[in-house]
Amino acid sequence: MDWLAGLEQLGRVASTNDVIRERGRAGAPEGTAVLAESQNAGRGREGRSWRSPAGNLFLSVLLRPVLPPDALPVLPLLAGVALAEAAAGYGVAARLKWPNDVLVGERKLAGILVEATSSGSGVEFVVVGVGMNLVLDPLELPEELRSRATSIRAETGRSIEPLAAARAVLARLGVWYDRLSREGRVPVLAAWRLAALPWWGERVEVRSAGARIEGVARDIDQSGALLLDTADGATLRVLSGDARELRRLSG
Ligand code: BTN
Repeated sequence: MDWLAGLEQLGRVASTNDVIRERGRAGAPEGTAVLAESQNAGRGREGRSWRSPAGNLFLSVLLRPVLPPDALPVLPLLAGVALAEAAAGYGVAARLKWPNDVLVGERKLAGILVEATSSGSGVEFVVVGVGMNLVLDPLELPEELRSRATSIRAETGRSIEPLAAARAVLARLGVWYDRLSREGRVPVLAAWRLAALPWWGERVEVRSAGARIEGVARDIDQSGALLLDTADGATLRVLSGDARELRRLSG
């Protein structure tokens, strides 16, 4: 499918995910996409806000996936693969941190917010929202965030136009979404593993809203859940929707 044909450019919006959700409710077709110049209520995962000054990428796309419900958590991983590939096209080697951070070293380059809308019969549509820092200057951020963010310009010195970045991301998203529909989730999961931080076999902790789980990272499963071997010999499955943050524990 040609998702580039469905791309609409807007000025300042509250959140591109909200715009696409409205389009989805109104019956817009799969592949409808919105690129905004800036957002005044950009949203991140876990109720966090997403800084959205003009010049960076704020893009959301509408999907109407015909997938078993347990395959839906693969979509954020698929978006991560697409973003890492788009960044690679600009000479930036990004790695993916479960569930869906796109990092360069320890600094965040891009984030993904996937939101599903359900009706009585199951998932009606899914909004995939991506934000990529293109020209953000980490030195202009509040001190506590400075060492935690990066951008394509900070990494390469190049200023990429949001429209060009949107086209690159949509092209990669389209390739992987078609592949998911045709070949199932195995190739997507394999590509995600290749781009992921190589934390397998290492002690990590996952924080969720009310809990902190510690264990050895083993793998992800067919639904994109993180498998953790715990001290008592059990293997825990952590669902991405329940995870706030994954951290590696030293020692
Ligand atoms: C995260 O890492 O917490 C996810 C950030 C997702 C930000 C993007 S920007 C475009 C889209 N619209 C939003 O309000 N959020 C996503």
